[in-house]
Amino acid sequence: MIDIAVAGACGRMGSMINNTILNQEDMRAVAAIEASDSPLEGKDIGEVIGVGKIGVNVIGADKLGTELKAKKPDVLVDFTIAHAAVENVKTAAENGVNVVVGTTGFSDEQMDEMKNAIKENNIKAVISPNMAVGVNIFFKILENLASIIDDYDVEIIESHHKHKADAPSGTAVKAAQIIAEVYGRDMDKVGIYGREGIVGERTDEEIGIHAIRGGDIVGEHTVLFAGDGERLEIVHRAHSRQAFVNGVIKSIRYVLNADEGKISDMGDVLGLK
Ligand SMILES: NC(=O)c1ccc[n+]([C@@H]2O[C@H](COP(=O)([O-])OP(=O)(O)OC[C@H]3O[C@@H](n4cnc5c(N)ncnc54)[C@H](O)[C@@H]3O)[C@@H](O)[C@H]2O)c1
Repeated sequence: MIDIAVAGACGRMGSMINNTILNQEDMRAVAAIEASDSPLEGKDIGEVIGVGKIGVNVIGADKLGTELKAKKPDVLVDFTIAHAAVENVKTAAENGVNVVVGTTGFSDEQMDEMKNAIKENNIKAVISPNMAVGVNIFFKILENLASIIDDYDVEIIESHHKHKADAPSGTAVKAAQIIAEVYGRDMDKVGIYGREGIVGERTDEEIGIHAIRGGDIVGEHTVLFAGDGERLEIVHRAHSRQAFVNGVIKSIRYVLNADEGKISDMGDVLGLK
């Protein structure tokens, strides 16, 4: 049995992850962590997600260390917000608990902080800004396509629901990085985040990223390779958050056998490398 703690347990993703864990024969939820000021603290997570009591009470993140020592989960799954995820990962690492992180919006410094904690404490980790199987195949297609087409203009357009906190999406950033790497470009120099005013002619090197926010769009990414007289568009559309949750479940099973002290991603989980 794989024992799992979920941070962000009552959020959009966390609720669905808890729900899906209930249907896995080899998994069980043993801890549910929420923001320290959450009014849901003390409530049974099963009741919060509408499936009736399961005997796991929601705790505040300030008690994460104590909870991990008491419940000894195999994996902490984190779908919170960047600054919270960094602290949760550090606490998990110090307690020898492996991590699966889906939270997005990390700065380079925050990513380094997590990497160091994972390495120093020799835990196993999967971190991926997009856990959907289809998106990771989309990444692979982009890598292959970029190695064939090298003189088309690349633009990325992403659309998400109105509640999304960070922009552009982690998936759009990763898609841009994959393409930039194939072309030997540095995203710090060629990344253009939206355009406004008299911006002048586009350079051949730039990679534009544009974020649309509205309604309940689950997640859509279009990568456009535009040439003279034609364009090629590669599109991924997520219809439901279940697409991400299914990837989380695969990551939980994978992480237990992953390399210690290393951050694996969905490419590793899905054997796409
Ligand atoms: N990797 C993926 O496939 C994927 C897919 C969807 C969303 N995401 C990302 O996952 C994150 C969560 O998304 P969401 O839509 O579920 O957001 P959400 O706002 O619905 O849920 C986040 C939850 O985290 C809780 N939280 C805040 N601080 C916390 C802390 N210190 N400890 C524990 N919980 C804390 C919040 O109270 C909230 O319930 C975002 O960064 C989002 O971009 C990633």
